[in-house]
Amino acid sequence: MKKVLTYGTFDLFHYGHLRLLERAKALGDYLIVAVSTDEFNAVKGKKCTYPYEHRAKIVAAIKYVDEVIPETRWEQKIEDVKKHGIDVFVMGDDWEGKFDFLKEYCEVFYLERTKNISTTALKDQIINDIQK
Ligand code: CTP
Repeated sequence: MKKVLTYGTFDLFHYGHLRLLERAKALGDYLIVAVSTDEFNAVKGKKCTYPYEHRAKIVAAIKYVDEVIPETRWEQKIEDVKKHGIDVFVMGDDWEGKFDFLKEYCEVFYLERTKNISTTALKDQIINDIQK
């Protein structure tokens, strides 16, 4: 069985997230998604609209996703790849090259982001709509 791993925040779950997960699953048979915890987001200076429990539950309900694990720190990736016997590591191409150090342990793919949508853009759009 080919196991795939990806990481993300997945706040305000949107179509770009869905397409990323669909293509990630197509690269193997079993998809694990590491969702960043609220504590880890605080370290990154990021504040989510939805709490971790909600983001993790939404991602887990997506039909392409087989398992959700928490992402709590930058350094956990090599450990996760080894612990879960990962064959393929996938991220959107906003991270191009950033995780090439994992090529020692598994295949690494960067998938093209879906155009014109992001959590940040959605938030900005909602704020603009309210201010109109
Ligand atoms: N992603 C994507 N296409 C988009 C938005 C996100 O393929 N339009 C991918 C990212 O590259 C990443 C995963 O979905 O691999 C989770 O992305 P995340 O950072 O949680 O979502 P964004 O919408 O990019 O959030 P933000 O605006 O806060 O950066």
